[in-house]
Amino acid sequence: MASQITVPLLDLKAQYATIKNEVDDAVAAVLESQWFIMGPEVKSLEEEIAQYCHAKFAIGCASGSDALLLAFMAIDIKPGDEIICPAYTFFATGGSIARLGAVPVYADIDPVTYNMDLNCVRQAAAKCKRLKAIMPVHLFGQTVDMTAYLKLAYELGVPLIEDAAQAIGACDETGKPAGSRGNIGCFSFFPSKNLGACGDAGIITTNDEELAEKLAKLRQHGSKPKYYHKMVGINSRLDAMQAAILRVKLRHLPDWHKARAENAARYDKMFTDAGAKTSATPLTDDGFPLKTPQPASGSATHIYNQYVIRVPSEIRDDLRAQLTEKKIGSEIYYPVSLHLQECFAYLGYSQGDLPNSEAAANETLALPIYPELTIEQQEYVASTVTTFINEKACVAKA
Ligand SMILES: Cc1ncc(COP(=O)(O)O)c(C=O)c1O
Repeated sequence: MASQITVPLLDLKAQYATIKNEVDDAVAAVLESQWFIMGPEVKSLEEEIAQYCHAKFAIGCASGSDALLLAFMAIDIKPGDEIICPAYTFFATGGSIARLGAVPVYADIDPVTYNMDLNCVRQAAAKCKRLKAIMPVHLFGQTVDMTAYLKLAYELGVPLIEDAAQAIGACDETGKPAGSRGNIGCFSFFPSKNLGACGDAGIITTNDEELAEKLAKLRQHGSKPKYYHKMVGINSRLDAMQAAILRVKLRHLPDWHKARAENAARYDKMFTDAGAKTSATPLTDDGFPLKTPQPASGSATHIYNQYVIRVPSEIRDDLRAQLTEKKIGSEIYYPVSLHLQECFAYLGYSQGDLPNSEAAANETLALPIYPELTIEQQEYVASTVTTFINEKACVAKA
């Protein structure tokens, strides 16, 4: 009976069940070697990720947040320097800038893709006095238009750092993977990412040999050779155990991406059949008040780290409560835009400054999209969502 189905937001146990032997063997081999920090597993993972991301170098580190921090350290970001990034993103995007005493300059997003709007970046840059970098986020697994961003970075004379934490393997409009074209690409292997470790881990990509060498030193307290320090770095190494597990999972990533894309297409159809349109149509139109994610077009690909729908703010939280009651996992990514976070009050932003980010924070909801999701589970999620919205729409009309 449909009401007995439960659907978590993410089911890592289901994933582990499909690769248990491979993962267990990889972990056993690391235990056998007793080589826990850096070493051959980390080196092999770095080579494999560099190849997968079409980058010349990949440097493992302790987390996606550290990847961002190390990237800024590598380009010599100093207190008071400005970096433009989106306001609608995970906290680490802005937090890593602020941790170095630098200034996150928040730009608004494009309401269709939820990625940072290039024109807003241009406007923000015009007001900056110490702009040192621009950092788009490839949010939810879909890249920004890298050609346009690289052109703007060139015009502004600053490096382009890609916060690709959610987008490993997503291709841009030229078909090139995230992290292959910017000066530095930063990835997270947080367990909920498409390529997730069994704990924290991250990696940085670059095509610049000098930057790669600097990053490799910075993650080990800036030392080379050991115990000789020409710069101050941090301890941000990638554990061998995580690297070994990630190498197993990397082999499955293309299949998992494919399954996520199929699930997304299935949701798209289920919601479209109920009257929904994509986020390219504003919520203010007269149709069914649900917007599906705008699929990637041309050579671009969406890896659906998240499948995010949009509904009117008045019903979003009630919809989520209904899903919870029906034992369906969901999440609000992200309820408060970074420019309105309490810790950034000193930056002086007010409500209304970045309207598209604020609207997205009030109207979006992520649904389960993980590869092991069954068609039955998807039908249950989609029918629960559409039934709820239909009921609300009837009440509103009555
Ligand atoms: C956009 C974005 N940036 C940075 C990070 C930070 O990565 P981590 O959690 O591995 O530190 C994340 C991870 O959640 C993220 O989604």
